[in-house]
Amino acid sequence: MTRRKPDELQIAIDGPAGAGKSTVAKLVAERLNLFYVDTGAMYRAIAYKALRSGIPVHDETLVSELAQTTQVVLDHSNERLVWCDGENVTQAIRSPEVSRAVSSVAAYIGVRQRLVELQRLEAARGGVVMDGRDIGTYVLPEADLKIFLTASAQERAKRRWLELRKDGKSVSLEEVAQDMLRRDRQDTEREVSPLEPARDAIMLDTTGLSVEDIVAEILSLTQEG
Ligand code: DC
Repeated sequence: MTRRKPDELQIAIDGPAGAGKSTVAKLVAERLNLFYVDTGAMYRAIAYKALRSGIPVHDETLVSELAQTTQVVLDHSNERLVWCDGENVTQAIRSPEVSRAVSSVAAYIGVRQRLVELQRLEAARGGVVMDGRDIGTYVLPEADLKIFLTASAQERAKRRWLELRKDGKSVSLEEVAQDMLRRDRQDTEREVSPLEPARDAIMLDTTGLSVEDIVAEILSLTQEG
């Protein structure tokens, strides 16, 4: 692949919830010394702000207006903090309430337009590994490498459940699996930028693979010319 210089590479990692995108994307970014941009965190920040402000997440007009005036900042330090209007929301955006609300918010064109603009600005700062649902298809159509990560629904639910448990959140595996299925359906069926692989994406099924295996595979793909 490599068309851009190594420090200007754009790598898009898309896929459904729990496919391992963020863990893998973070490591690939570290190894290649690129920025990591977690676009899901941006949609979560808007969902969080709507919930906090008492704005019904089903009200497209109000949520879209809110997105235009909300400042979402991802810091690029090791802590990878997420800021929403000056508030550190890194932990809060991972709550089950935000997870349940975020797919509705992410379906609104007004919200997407605003966040895609921010995402492209991030990419203009230098090389990036960006993860999300529409990075290869819409946000960075000229990315040097596009990966679509998948894994069995069972494994994805288990991974997300373990993550939540590690963060001290007590939810049942069944609940996580149901939420995830519902979210994937909403993300895949929405009209604007639905979750789908770009035509030139490389599909990687991560079921049964270790994080290191997946990272190694992606790094080797960046070497291919
Ligand atoms: O990756 P995640 O679970 O943090 O994403 C949260 C939600 O945001 C998810 O329901 C899909 C949506 N999303 C999106 O529509 N487009 C993106 N580029 C990233 C996330």
